[in-house]
Amino acid sequence: MKRVLFLLLTAALALVFLVTIAQDRHRGWVKYQRQFLGTLKGAERRGIARGVHQTIVQGLDRVDRCTTCHLAATKPQLGLAEQPFTAHPGQYLQWHPVEKFGCTVCHGGQGLATEVKAAHGEVPHWEEPLLRGPLVQASCRQCHGEVSTIQEHAPLLVQGQQLFTAKGCYGCHAVHNFGQTVSVDLSEVGAKSHQLIEADFEMMPGPHNRIHWLRRKLAHPRVLNPGVPPEALPRGEEEVFPSSMPFFGLEMADIEALSVYLLSLKAEDLPASYVRPPHTPPEPTYASAVTRGRAVYEHYGCTACHGIGGVGGRRNPNNGLAEEAPSLLYVKAYYGDHVEALKQVIRQGRQPAPRADPHRPNPPLYMPAWKERLSEEDLEALIAYLFALSDRLPAAAVGDLL
Ligand code: HEC
Ligand code: HEC
Ligand code: HEC
Ligand code: HEC
Ligand code: HEC
Repeated sequence: MKRVLFLLLTAALALVFLVTIAQDRHRGWVKYQRQFLGTLKGAERRGIARGVHQTIVQGLDRVDRCTTCHLAATKPQLGLAEQPFTAHPGQYLQWHPVEKFGCTVCHGGQGLATEVKAAHGEVPHWEEPLLRGPLVQASCRQCHGEVSTIQEHAPLLVQGQQLFTAKGCYGCHAVHNFGQTVSVDLSEVGAKSHQLIEADFEMMPGPHNRIHWLRRKLAHPRVLNPGVPPEALPRGEEEVFPSSMPFFGLEMADIEALSVYLLSLKAEDLPASYVRPPHTPPEPTYASAVTRGRAVYEHYGCTACHGIGGVGGRRNPNNGLAEEAPSLLYVKAYYGDHVEALKQVIRQGRQPAPRADPHRPNPPLYMPAWKERLSEEDLEALIAYLFALSDRLPAAAVGDLL
């Protein structure tokens, strides 16, 4: 009996051993290496080591094995037409030699993995999905703090950063100590863990990763955060308003650019030899107080709540009869003779905005306090601009000030 058992166990062990060997031969990378080597002539083939290729990037604390499959990335003369065997496009690997940079610092993914999906980080619980196509521009900013210097190679990143200001995102969101705190600080949104994302993911087709979440959020801010209407709640509980982030009606190209910029926002802590620090841009000059005021209005994100050119229209439940943040076209009529009071409103803000119906919750948007963030000169210029908007009433004439 004992002998039979012993023989059976030995057979089982041998089987496990054989299966393991067979599986190893069919591992993703083995197949790709064999396929690639098959296309090469003898001499070329001898130049390529078999097995897992590994780059240890000490300065960045990374170990990348991407070139195990992407065999021609650093050998353009051997590049083929299809993935994973193409030569790397552009001069990126000349500017950023593989020994010093590796691959994942730009592309994301999982450096140590050797199966396709795992290596590309396109598996649950891996927080750095592969940045495909132009999304890779999101990684340039961690080292090139002044993105205008690489504009030619990272056009979407630059455009996303400009759109962030132009759309007034700063009026509600802060990024690295600039901007208001009416809503979430976005300084590290590009590294936000899936676990911490507050969104109703059932309202969104998969995959449920950070990249898709951001795109969806920008396209339809309220769909993932729809709030809870009073009918759906037990009696006496306060309704939850839908997200007060405005619907911007962004085009696909703008969504892509903003996503690249948002994905680029993360804590940066790289060794100095990798970083090109930003320089402070020179003070711009303005033709008049009104043009300066308009620049201030855009720069600080007043657009966020008062719209481009102060025409209003941003939804703000339970704020005034129209449930909108107010238009600023009438500021001169109210404050023309009370400039100090107007300065007071802008410097001190009004939190919360008064409720139209005292039985419903506070309006989510309020006039934030700008305190000393605005210099006295900027404040005067801002007021000159607001008064000029009023002077141009009726609204049709406001157009040429926008
Ligand atoms: C096991 C083999 C394998 C490994 C390891 C691997 N890749 Fe890939 N890679 C592929 C294959 C196959 C494709 C084409 C299919 C696809 O796009 O998923 C590909 C596609 C890509 C693309 C997209 C190219 C395009 O046309 O859009 C990028 C970028 C990329 N890989 C980067 C990486 C990086 C960075 C790593 C290391 C973290 C890596 N890969 C590791 C096999 C691999
Ligand atoms: C300095 C940043 C940087 C580094 C480092 C880098 N790449 Fe890229 N990679 C890029 C850019 C930029 C593109 C072009 C993306 C686009 O616009 O389609 C790209 C494109 C690719 C593509 C797609 C190729 C195609 O034909 O569309 C693959 C695959 C790829 N890289 C693999 C790698 C691998 C493997 C490494 C490491 C050996 C690596 N990259 C290192 C920036 C980088
Ligand atoms: C990990 C840091 C890091 C990342 C990420 C990075 N770069 Fe660089 N890049 C550098 C450094 C450092 C140099 C200078 C290399 C040198 O002087 O030898 C450089 C050089 C360059 C150059 C050459 C011209 C110049 O200014 O010297 C270009 C263009 C460039 N990078 C573009 C990009 C783009 C586009 C991306 C994103 C796809 C990117 N870089 C991502 C660190 C980085
Ligand atoms: C009027 C105020 C307002 C403006 C303007 C605004 N947002 Fe928001 N945003 C919010 C609020 C409130 C939330 C939090 C509730 C939610 O998730 O909808 C939010 C959430 C977000 C989130 C999710 C952050 C997280 O960590 O959950 C992102 C990303 C975002 N906004 C990006 C933007 C961008 C980009 C712009 C400019 C195009 C912008 N927002 C303009 C109010 C605003
Ligand atoms: C996060 C949204 C938000 C941002 C950003 C914002 N405001 Fe307001 N603002 C409001 C709301 C809401 C009110 C109405 C407050 C109330 O009803 O008491 C208001 C009121 C005002 C008023 C008073 C209007 C009146 O009729 O009394 C002025 C003036 C004003 N804002 C100017 C600005 C300027 C200038 C900026 C940029 C520096 C700015 N706001 C940025 C939300 C905002």
